[in-house]
Amino acid sequence: MVVAAVAELWKHNEEIVTLLKNNYDLLIAAFLAVAATFLVSKSWSKGGARSIDVPGRLGLPFIGETLAFLSATNSFKGCYEFVNLRRSRYGKWFKTRLFGKIHVFVPTTEGARKIFTNDFSYFNKGYVKSMADCVGPKSLLSVPHESHKRIRRLLSDPFSMPSLATFVVKFDQLLSQRLARLARNGDSFKVLEFSMQMTFDAMCSMLMSVTEESLLREIEKDCTAVSEAMLSLPVMIPGSRYYRGIKARERVMERFSGMIERRRSGVESHEDFLQSMLAKDSYPSTEKLEDAEIMDNLLTLIIAGQTTTAAAMMWSVKFLNDNRDAQDRLREEQLAITRKKADDYVLSLEDINSMSYGLKVVKETLRMSNVLLWFPRVALNDCTVDGKFFPLDYRIEIKKGWHVNIDATCIHYDPVLYKDPLQFNPSRFEEMQKSYSFIPFGSGPRTCLGMNMAKVTLMVFLHRLAGGYKWTMDDLDLSLEKKSHIPRLRSGCPITLKAL
Ligand code: HEM
Repeated sequence: MVVAAVAELWKHNEEIVTLLKNNYDLLIAAFLAVAATFLVSKSWSKGGARSIDVPGRLGLPFIGETLAFLSATNSFKGCYEFVNLRRSRYGKWFKTRLFGKIHVFVPTTEGARKIFTNDFSYFNKGYVKSMADCVGPKSLLSVPHESHKRIRRLLSDPFSMPSLATFVVKFDQLLSQRLARLARNGDSFKVLEFSMQMTFDAMCSMLMSVTEESLLREIEKDCTAVSEAMLSLPVMIPGSRYYRGIKARERVMERFSGMIERRRSGVESHEDFLQSMLAKDSYPSTEKLEDAEIMDNLLTLIIAGQTTTAAAMMWSVKFLNDNRDAQDRLREEQLAITRKKADDYVLSLEDINSMSYGLKVVKETLRMSNVLLWFPRVALNDCTVDGKFFPLDYRIEIKKGWHVNIDATCIHYDPVLYKDPLQFNPSRFEEMQKSYSFIPFGSGPRTCLGMNMAKVTLMVFLHRLAGGYKWTMDDLDLSLEKKSHIPRLRSGCPITLKAL
């Protein structure tokens, strides 16, 4: 056999020599390219990865590229267009200057790991005065490391499994009634408006048992004003966003304080988050929250939970509408659950745990919608962040005071991590994800506190929607809302429901 193969090769010897002669230039070039890659990667790996400066344009002092950023934020393409444009100019890593600060957008899982695992030590959330003024000095978003750890631990009660089980029942009852009413009316309605109200009402009921419609709307109006002022110019000029937000905060705090007083005096008592906090009044100070901590964090939970969850609900409707196979498969799974139940059933946490395809739809929705586009941190010292660009490793130099934005959107759309990233394909989550490649809730000590609550809320929503109805989209416009840092359809995603 071997002899025959050598004879065959010899027969073609002359052809091979001619081929080599004719492509001499090509061969030399290929040889040089291989040698250069080998030498460079060798020399880089010798002393570890090399440090490189990030490309990008810093522009004029202070102003930098702020105007371009504001113009993107103020367009129907959304503020991430600013990032997309720079990435097409400079590559995956780039830096820019916004509002006087240098920002580096961190597009890799290695970079995300470095920042998340060193949160509070090498990096911290940037202090934004308007944000701290709005949510309050005792909010999880404002406090320093030590208080953060304690407050986070003491706030975890409403997110425990027994509390989530109660939440699922309440949310399911509220949601199924409201969807049934909308389907009976047969009118078109905006999913975004609906989901904003649903999440707000459900959270107020869970946190402090507020269920009266007019009171809910008043508190919601104030919370929205506070939320809108979080990123504004912090000057108290009557009529400005900041002024309206601070005034709204004062009213909210007054309400919360009244509620606490009524509960302490025994006039009111409920089974909810607020009551569980007040039940610790006689505990040592390390094991309870002060009133100011309770109030600032009630507000923080509402603001952090409402807009995010509502936006994800809206995107799930849009993605499922555009991907009928996924919608059919989801419906089949949900109907299998419904068939085992009585007519007026209410979902339980066990039902939620059995929705394996539903969970994948939730994950794929969060991957593609990127409710929080990037997560900002500030470098507390000069440092480097690891990058990778096959076959080379490199370190990106970051200076003290620079802002590093973990770019969850870029990571979630990276074709190396997600095949056909623009395709809505929940089944991709059958495979294990690489660490830090799926980060819609962040990671590390600041991981979203409401992560499980958000997931079960979305699963109940998908169950009731796909298992109970079909729908038509009444506006196909893809433009995004202006001036919003959470991507949301400008149309609000209007649909009409038809019961199955
Ligand atoms: C789909 C819905 C949600 C998404 C995508 C989301 C996403 C996130 C992300 C990415 C962070 C970390 C940000 C960072 O590292 O800078 C975060 C933090 C936080 N989230 Fe959520 N969230 C959602 C729903 C909720 C809900 C329902 C609540 C509460 C009811 C909540 C409460 C919080 C709080 C309190 C923090 C601050 C945690 C800390 O600093 O320790 N979130 N969220």
